[in-house]
Amino acid sequence: MREHVLLIGGGGREHAIARALAESEAEVYACAGNRNPGIAGLASEFETLETTNPDAVVDFAERVEATIAVVGPEAPLAAGVSDALEHAGIYAFGPNQAEARIETDKAFQRRFMRDNHIAGCPDFETFDDPEAACAYIDEYDGDLAIKPAGLTGGKGVKVIGDQVTPEEGKAYIRESDHDRLVLEERLIGEEFTVQAFVANGDVRTAPAIQDHKRAYEGDEGPNTGGMGSYSAASTALPFMTDADYVAAVEIIEATVDALEDYKGILYGQFMLTAEGPKVIEFNARFGDPEAMNTLPVLETPLLDVLTAARNRDPLPDPVFADQATVCKYAVPEGYPTDPVAGARVAVDEESAGDALLYYASVDEREDGIYTTTSRSFAVVGVADTIDDAETIAEDALAVAGDEGLHMRHDIGTATLVQRRIDHMKKLRGDE
Ligand code: AMP
Ligand code: GLY
Repeated sequence: MREHVLLIGGGGREHAIARALAESEAEVYACAGNRNPGIAGLASEFETLETTNPDAVVDFAERVEATIAVVGPEAPLAAGVSDALEHAGIYAFGPNQAEARIETDKAFQRRFMRDNHIAGCPDFETFDDPEAACAYIDEYDGDLAIKPAGLTGGKGVKVIGDQVTPEEGKAYIRESDHDRLVLEERLIGEEFTVQAFVANGDVRTAPAIQDHKRAYEGDEGPNTGGMGSYSAASTALPFMTDADYVAAVEIIEATVDALEDYKGILYGQFMLTAEGPKVIEFNARFGDPEAMNTLPVLETPLLDVLTAARNRDPLPDPVFADQATVCKYAVPEGYPTDPVAGARVAVDEESAGDALLYYASVDEREDGIYTTTSRSFAVVGVADTIDDAETIAEDALAVAGDEGLHMRHDIGTATLVQRRIDHMKKLRGDE
């Protein structure tokens, strides 16, 4: 019998997962809160449901006789969807609620690293009293990152000395209703992501990627879910050494060893500092946009990884094409602070040319596809060099036009990549 893979989530990341699964013999059944036209086109059935409602997901999974499930976003993991599926006898590639705390509870995550002596943990303290946190800011010798302990869609962190002054940081703590906070040493360097397939103690890592969190070109403006990302035709990025990549992989392996029986994707977000990689955070799922860099170059069938995980077989050693990728998101104008929905999306899979097109939070209506208040769609160029991949992505954006949309044209450009290289050189005192 063909595998019936249940895919949970309706963003660009899940469109990339759906496409990777559709390339093998799997039958894909998808559910999400929004009807993603890209996923719907690939799935045997698409159900709109509340993905944080474990009963609703299990009902759909049972109806379509799912033999395996992939949980795309973090919110269903936090809601215990993996636990509920397993309880119903359906293998879920995604951690249970308790192990997903590595992402969903930043205070747990930092204590976990400290207690298990995992390398790359910044100096930190956790707080449940806002005034104690403010006093710590006054006392601390240096800049701090202020992090709500719970999920904030990547938008809750404020870094003193970068986005805010100490006074603004304290005002943020007092005004926001986050009841638990982590304050940690501000890390300086270049960010990168390494994602790993994990099951039964096996860890299989993918090439490094650099995401761009800031809304505007030149890394200005508020943090977003991620505006775009690139990877090189090698495991490391141009501003890192192979040893930096290996150090990051070792941190991920040590983390998996310390977790009980983690399964799914473990995503490490690192700051490459002058002293090597430090952990900014872990996520319990593929990154979005990073899944759109990783999956198009994954030559090993994704289905083989999932079935090996379920069958408790060794995970296959994934093969990645030696190609660079550049992913650029188009988001609604005003995103993330004041997004304006309702612009018509004027690009489709054909008109995107050589680029891959992934739909995210769009709304499919009778007369077309429209933007909502979240990220709309992404285009991905795949080529021998970052430069060529960037050109492919830009050509597709030109077709899309920019009416009602905003994008960062600088992601993946030679100028921006060179700036990263120069920044690391300077930090490491190579100049
Ligand atoms: P997070 O939600 O943990 O991914 O954080 C969002 C963004 O805040 C990261 O992508 C970093 O740019 C920044 N950030 C988080 N923690 C730190 C830190 N300790 N030092 C400097 N920047 C940080
Ligand atoms: N790209 C960052 C994230 O998925 O959290």
